[in-house]
Amino acid sequence: MKSILPLTLYATTALAQGIYINSPAAGSQLQAGSSVTVQVARYDFIQSVAEIGLGIGIESCTNGCPDPTGSLGTLVYNGGYDPQLGPGIHDEYQNFTITVPDTTGNVQIGIVRAFLVGLGYTVTIGSAVTNVTIV
Ligand SMILES: *[C@@H]1O[C@H](CO)[C@@H](O)[C@H](O)[C@H]1NC(C)=O
Ligand SMILES: *[C@@H]1O[C@H](CO)[C@@H](O)[C@H](O)[C@H]1NC(C)=O
Repeated sequence: MKSILPLTLYATTALAQGIYINSPAAGSQLQAGSSVTVQVARYDFIQSVAEIGLGIGIESCTNGCPDPTGSLGTLVYNGGYDPQLGPGIHDEYQNFTITVPDTTGNVQIGIVRAFLVGLGYTVTIGSAVTNVTIV
């Protein structure tokens, strides 16, 4: 029985998040004002999932990085999420072309995902973050 708790926690965590940022890689340097591809991949679920959409924000991390579900910063994308299988990686993903804000320093790319899950299609919020530097 001992192993059940961590497994449940893991499953709950994966379910709550559900997505990950495949690129840009953590620690990347992005050029202010340039166009960058943010690739957002989705973990496989056994349960039914229906997407509502994503918000992608860039937030300065001068006083630590906030939880993206509380603050996204500069909004660079909001709209649908329709990940597909494609070249390169295992999971379904979608590319978003965003414009890097005119700022410099350490920032967090934060993504919130609203989706419906399970038999009753329960509204669920997931998020993912990665740290990059704007130069
Ligand atoms: C998504 O972007 C990556 C990197 O730019 C590229 O290799 C890949 O082909 C793109 N996938 C699709 C479906 O456009
Ligand atoms: C991003 O950087 C902050 C500190 O600036 C750190 O607390 C946080 O864990 C980092 N997040 C990731 C995903 O690397």
